[in-house]
Amino acid sequence: MNTKINNPSIFTDGNKENKSIVFVHGFPFDHFMWDAQVKALSRSYFCVRYDIRGLGESPAGDGQFTMEMFVDDLKEIVDGMELNKPVLCGLSMGGYISLRAMGRIEDMFSALILCDTKSVADDNETKLKRAGAIKRINNGQFELFIEEFVANCFADSFIKESEKEYREVTNRSLKNDPVGVKGCILAMAGRTDTTELLPRIKIPTLVICGSEDKLSPPTLMKPMADAIPGSEFVLVEGAGHMAPIEKADFINGKIAGFLKKIFL
Ligand code: MLT
Repeated sequence: MNTKINNPSIFTDGNKENKSIVFVHGFPFDHFMWDAQVKALSRSYFCVRYDIRGLGESPAGDGQFTMEMFVDDLKEIVDGMELNKPVLCGLSMGGYISLRAMGRIEDMFSALILCDTKSVADDNETKLKRAGAIKRINNGQFELFIEEFVANCFADSFIKESEKEYREVTNRSLKNDPVGVKGCILAMAGRTDTTELLPRIKIPTLVICGSEDKLSPPTLMKPMADAIPGSEFVLVEGAGHMAPIEKADFINGKIAGFLKKIFL
């Protein structure tokens, strides 16, 4: 951890004089999931990552989280670190936070990168799945829940071919505080639908989707990208929900190209 603002633990890489990128991770992961992006991009950009409340090194507290609270945390980080219009890059739950931030504080950012995420809120079936997950965790099945959830986030080919990396990701997720994990589940289940604000997004937007993503599939993400004026859509062949880990080099190239177009 480099610093702490209010609750979240924050990690920075690169030169603060450069343009900044704030990375917001997915569930049930932490800032490490952006390692490959930060390694590649911190040569030219100031990279800011943080652990969402209750995950990684950020304390769970009472676990009473809302999506609005997560956006408050993001705003406090951008303000507290005096970042001048950073690029916002969020994956899945990090994308829910980023999309909601577009409705509240879009002016604070210069560009948006949405990876494997969706604007629709949970339907009844998903809400019931979330309730089932909390019940399982309360019944002592935290490890099993994490193992199954993380497995569903990756393409089968990645799990087979990159077993060591996959195990590392799972083991990190297993270290999370169950109270924090449950708090995030509640926040996701209670989030608002952000679909109606997509046509109002004014900043340049890149939308990235793994072709094998089971949680936010291309059939959901392509129409979402189409609704954002002028956005660029990238399909990552062979990747699941964790495309930035599964196909890191490809995605780093796409992000670098997108940012070059905006800033040069
Ligand atoms: C995530 O990766 O953040 C989660 O899969 C999001 C979700 O469960 O809706």
